[in-house]
Amino acid sequence: MNHDTKDVKILGIETSCDETAAAVVATGPRVLSSVVASQIALHKKYGGVVPEIASRAHLEKIYPVITQALADAKVTPHQIDAVAVANRPGLTIALIVGVTAAKTLAWAWSKPLIAINHLHAHMQSALLDAQTECRSPAAALIVSGGHTSLYDYESPLEPKLLGFTIDDAAGEAFDKVATILNLGYPGGPAIEQAAKNGNPRAVDFPRSLLDKHSLDFSFSGLKTAVLYHCRGQNMKGENRVAQMTPSEIADIAASFQAAVVDVLVKKVRRAVLKIGAKTVLVGGGVAANTALRQALTELCDKLNINLLIAAKRYCTDNAVMVASLAHYKYQARAFAQLDLEPASSGE
Ligand code: KG4
Ligand code: ZN
Repeated sequence: MNHDTKDVKILGIETSCDETAAAVVATGPRVLSSVVASQIALHKKYGGVVPEIASRAHLEKIYPVITQALADAKVTPHQIDAVAVANRPGLTIALIVGVTAAKTLAWAWSKPLIAINHLHAHMQSALLDAQTECRSPAAALIVSGGHTSLYDYESPLEPKLLGFTIDDAAGEAFDKVATILNLGYPGGPAIEQAAKNGNPRAVDFPRSLLDKHSLDFSFSGLKTAVLYHCRGQNMKGENRVAQMTPSEIADIAASFQAAVVDVLVKKVRRAVLKIGAKTVLVGGGVAANTALRQALTELCDKLNINLLIAAKRYCTDNAVMVASLAHYKYQARAFAQLDLEPASSGE
């Protein structure tokens, strides 16, 4: 990755949603530190991320998290070569905290500033601790709370978007269905836990594949199907969830999870065939799901291609992936100006 002989050390900062994170990554990439302050406890009672609360929590945690990342890495600001920050996409009032911190440090330490796309950073998490080679061409699936996207991973800095969700993201569907089933927040791990005791074939939920060649996703119909299953067609009935046995709830969770996994796997297969991929990269919070990991492993074995899936600790938001991607930008001298702004969009 590094064309300089120098061992470059980059401080990465991540505040796009509900995790305040900082990490120091050296050339290699070698992870020198990774600190993540999760806000799950703050958002739990609302059943989802409340932007204002997220922003205030980032403001409170950003200084201690960065200080800890530097201390754990045993580096001083003087030894840092650049400051990188995820500035898009995400919640603007959350991103603004990380962006302001990164700009301030870059200015105060006289270091270059590097702007990172959060989704492109998720792809790097699949390459950390990789056990197999990333052979080109590679297809990348990013499945998170806010995004479900497929890319042709042509270059780490400019992956080509092949498809994205036209409504809910996969993680969002997990979170909403968990709310319908009263399983709590965040929904992904709760559904996965409940599904362990359920029958994935108990309910035949719809699998929306859109048209024959489409690489886009749609999960809102599936979410509505779960709602109708629990409340009756057109929501006319009472929500039966409170009267359901744990085994009925487990069956719904397992059947829903199977439907999401089926769609994701079928779309990955389409993308692989379309670009002739020899590798599949997978990242984002939903990539922590064991059923998805197993199904993708089976698919890639069958197609005889390499699967690089992020280690569970790097699936959800972290700053290691931000600093790792920043190394490519550092080598390309692709630096940002100090008027850098956060942006909610950006595929
Ligand atoms: O990547 P991430 O940390 O944040 C965003 O960039 O959105 O992803 C969070 C999402 C949430 O929707 C959460 O429910 C989902 O990832 N998630 C999971 C699992 N762990 C987290 N979904 C399914 N199974 C899991 N084990
Ligand atoms: Zn994310």
